[in-house]
Formats: sequence, structure tokens, C-alpha cells
Amino acid sequence: MKIIVTGGAGFIGSHTVVELIARGHEAIIVDNFSNSQPFIIDRIKEITGVSPKLYQVDCTDKKALKQVFENEKPEGVIHFAASKAVGESVLKPLLYYRNNLTSLINVLEIMKEEKVNNIVFSSSCTVYGSPDVIPVTEKTPIKKAESPYGNTKQIDEQILTDFQKANPLFNVSILRYFNPIGAHPTGKIGELPIGTPNNLIPFITQTAAGIRKQLTIFGDTYDTKDGSCIRDYIHVIDLAITHIKAIEKLKKENGIVDVYNVGTGVGSSVIEVIESFEEATKQKLNFRIGNPREGDISAIYADNTKIVSELEWKPKYNLKDALVHAWEWQKKLQK
Ligand code: WQD
Repeated sequence: MKIIVTGGAGFIGSHTVVELIARGHEAIIVDNFSNSQPFIIDRIKEITGVSPKLYQVDCTDKKALKQVFENEKPEGVIHFAASKAVGESVLKPLLYYRNNLTSLINVLEIMKEEKVNNIVFSSSCTVYGSPDVIPVTEKTPIKKAESPYGNTKQIDEQILTDFQKANPLFNVSILRYFNPIGAHPTGKIGELPIGTPNNLIPFITQTAAGIRKQLTIFGDTYDTKDGSCIRDYIHVIDLAITHIKAIEKLKKENGIVDVYNVGTGVGSSVIEVIESFEEATKQKLNFRIGNPREGDISAIYADNTKIVSELEWKPKYNLKDALVHAWEWQKKLQK
């Protein structure tokens, strides 16, 4: 299939493009490089031998985006392009609503105009808010979002289901990611946080590399096994592969909305992650216990039964693999 991958130069997007190419698909990257860098395209070629076509376009620019669809006539879209930092969304809500909602609306309007019927959408476990029961299934009630970022994901999911209702032949697959971590085993692509990392794993690897002086654990008084927060950390390659399986399934369908939790089904605490990192990489981490972070929930991890059975997928990598790959990538970045 020829697939337009918006945000295809980003962390998850680039790993998905590599897996698309590996499975014989043609990936067309649309990216404005607001949260990625052009050298990633060259790295994709180094890994796959294929240099994916690139359009440097912002998805909020409908005219430019439509030109891409007219040129390429894709069979489907994987839509990653969005702003994704929870903390930043609290400080800049309008940027998040404009970018994350307008981009999706543009993509859907153009897909309708160009008769492209298959979209895989990058959503997040953030839509669940703070769940009463864990692990969460796809039927776990959606609670009020805890941030503008989470709210944009909830609204985007609603836009997709409403649009599909009005266009019965349209196919949607909504992937609710848990915590994407790790990097490509070649060390050629990985996470490229801008400035001080918000997320745990890049902060850990930058602390181990001496870029950050000390890691702060945001609270150890939660009602969990060791007091620190629990999350479901999924290797970015395992996550990437679910996109290919999801869009291949859509191609055979006529009018569905799939929703999947994309997680390992294993909950790990912050302290367990630190211990795993130190053990797997033999790097001693300098950390301290700090105050809880505004907006954090104590624990969430996936019941991934549905995606395992319907997409015949299961995670290949475990937490240690992802931490080692993230560390290898960090060391290569220093060179
Ligand atoms: C994980 C745990 C922190 C940094 C968010 C979004 C989610 C996705 C991933 C976009 C938490 C703790 C962190 C640090 C720490 N974003 N932590 N010290 O908040 O679970 O998920 O990012 O796709 O949608 O909600 O991820 O990595 O920021 O935090 O103790 O320096 O690590 O408190 O418990 P989070 P995270």
C-alpha cells in the first residue's frame, strides 16, 4: 500500500516508516520538523536502503497538504502529526487545540475529497484520565481529560467516530498508546527531545550521559507497590508494528472503527525502571525523590487482549531491551 505518514520523521513516525518499508509498503512522509530533524530521513535510508519521499508540510496548512494527496494518491494515512507534551499543553492550550484538531480535520476533509478511506490515528492512554480499575480495557470509561493535550486526543477520537458515521465506507483505527520508549537496535533513530526532556526515559539516559546532573523521581508516596507511579512502557518498534497491522486490516474492511490499547500489559514503577536501567546498562544513576508532578496519575497499564487477538500481535521486546536500546541511541547521539 502507498501510505501518507504525517509526522513521519518523528520518534514513533520514523520507526513506523522503517517497518512499513520492511513490509513492502511505500511510505510518503509529511512533516514540518517542529519536533523532529531532517537527518532522520537519511537514517531511514541507511536502515532500509530506501529514501522515503518527503514533503515538508504543516498539516494545519490545508492547501499544501491537499497538494500532497493530489500528487501521491495514497491508499491510506497514518496520522502522527500533533503536539504531544502534557505539561506544555497546560501552558499553551490554544497551540494544542489549533494544531491537534485542525490538522486532523484537514486530513479528513482531504481524504474525503480525494476518496482515501483508511486512517490509523495516534491516540493515547491519556484519554482514560485516572482509571478507577487497572489494567484498562478499551471499554474502560473515558473520564474528563487531565490536560489540554489529553482533551485534544479525546476530541480527535470523537471527530473520527462522528466522521465515520457520516461516511459509512470510511475505515478508522484508533491506537491508544501507553508509554512509547526505546530506540532502533541499529542506534540510527530514536527519541529526540527538544530541550529538557519531559518524559522519564530520555531524562534517565541524559542523566547517565552526564547531560543532566540528577534525575528527580516525581513522588514516592503514591498508593502503589513502592510509592512511585506505575506505567506501561512499550518498545517503539513493537508500537510501530501495530500501525502496519492496523492499516492492513482496514484495507480489507468497509466501514469500521477499531479502537486498541497498545501496551505490553505490564505495569512498571519509576523505581523499577531506574533499577532495570542500572542493571541492564551497568550505569549508576544519580537520582533524588522530589514532589509529585502536577497532573500525574498514580497507575495505569493496558489490558491488551483485544489487539493481541484481533491484530495477531504481541510485543517482541521487554523493558530491559527498550532501556538498552535507548541508552545505545543516547551514546551515539553524543558522538
Ligand atoms: C512517566 C513517569 C512521571 C520524568 C506522557 C503522556 C503520554 C505520552 C507519554 C505522548 C511518571 C515519572 C518522569 C522525570 C519522573 N505522551 N517521571 N521524573 O506522563 O506517563 O505520559 O508522556 O504520547 O500521552 O501522558 O510519561 O515519561 O512523562 O512520565 O519521575 O523526570 O515517570 O511522574 O510517573 P507520562 P512520562
